[in-house]
Amino acid sequence: MAAVRIFVSLLVGLGAYYFYNQETLSTDIVQGKRVLVTGSSTGIGEQIAYEFARMGAHLILTARREKQLKEVAQKCLELGASSARHIVSDMNNLTSAHNLIEETSNKLGSLDYLVLNHVGGSGKFGPFQGDMEAVISSLTVNFLSYVQLTTSALTMLQESKGSIIVISSLAGRIGAPFALSYSAAKFALEGFYSSLRRELHLRQINLSVTVAVLGYIDTDSALSTVGDKMTMTASSKEMCAQEVVRAGILRHREVFYPYWSLKPLILLRDWVPDLMERLLDTFYNLENIL
Ligand SMILES: NC(=O)c1ccc[n+]([C@@H]2O[C@H](COP(=O)([O-])OP(=O)(O)OC[C@H]3O[C@@H](n4cnc5c(N)ncnc54)[C@H](OP(=O)(O)O)[C@@H]3O)[C@@H](O)[C@H]2O)c1
Ligand SMILES: *[C@@H]1O[C@H](CO)[C@@H](O)[C@H](O)[C@H]1NC(C)=O
Ligand SMILES: *[C@@H]1O[C@H](CO)[C@@H](O)[C@H](O)[C@H]1NC(C)=O
Repeated sequence: MAAVRIFVSLLVGLGAYYFYNQETLSTDIVQGKRVLVTGSSTGIGEQIAYEFARMGAHLILTARREKQLKEVAQKCLELGASSARHIVSDMNNLTSAHNLIEETSNKLGSLDYLVLNHVGGSGKFGPFQGDMEAVISSLTVNFLSYVQLTTSALTMLQESKGSIIVISSLAGRIGAPFALSYSAAKFALEGFYSSLRRELHLRQINLSVTVAVLGYIDTDSALSTVGDKMTMTASSKEMCAQEVVRAGILRHREVFYPYWSLKPLILLRDWVPDLMERLLDTFYNLENIL
């Protein structure tokens, strides 16, 4: 009972903080800024590109599929982007990741926002059957390429007093059954980027690192891979992109979307792990998974 009471008062406090924290945002700060968004041929990355486009940024879009990238770039221009170009690159190859930053530098001259969002290579959603290939490719695409892109872009970002926005997941905070290699890569990101943030701070380098912890979002790929396997309803990718970009511009340390379904679970994780796990279990439609 005492634990429940403490938990409830904590949620109330959290609510107060959440509303207090809704500072207003002047979109002028993004006008003419240079932004690279990875995995922007579709999904959340595409929506993030549109958010920056509306605020008049110079955009570089990247993913593997050129046709989609061209369409997204065209739409960015219609929405008000100062410029919108694309670079085709496969993040399963770390040399390509490094080259992507070189090309970005050649095209833009500098970089203000590095948005790390792409996802792939983690294999099929389902019980772990020892597929080492999937673990290796997930860690390469979803973790090592992020580190490579960051490393290669660090000088540019330092010069511009820029920002890194990293897309993580609840699966990077709480173990995610049936998505082990994906969860492993997201946990790795959380470790790397929270350490990097503190290290930059201690070295008095003004470069912000925003980690976005996302729940279930209604992108085509998420709906088709887990649509019939999860019991929750998916949240809007447009709203998600808005929240992520806003937090990035305000140089917040992290952002949760959808806040109210994620934050209580993450708090329970340390306090009442068995309750958290029982709640989590209800999210899975086991008859469609096993
Ligand atoms: N949707 C959700 O429910 C959810 C929940 C939590 C976190 N997230 C996170 O949100 C981010 C975006 O997710 P999403 O649902 O928008 O994904 P998505 O719709 O599947 O889009 C993934 C993007 O990554 C690109 N990509 C995939 N493999 C690549 C590779 N090898 N090299 C380069 N680009 C590659 C894809 O483009 P190409 O295929 O053209 O290369 C695409 O643009 C991810 O970091 C994901 O982990 C999503
Ligand atoms: C990785 O990319 C580089 C540069 O684009 C290319 O030279 C190399 O052959 C690629 N490696 C693999 C394994 O595809
Ligand atoms: C860091 O850089 C940002 C963006 O240029 C600026 O708004 C902020 O005041 C700087 N912070 C410090 C402590 O210099």
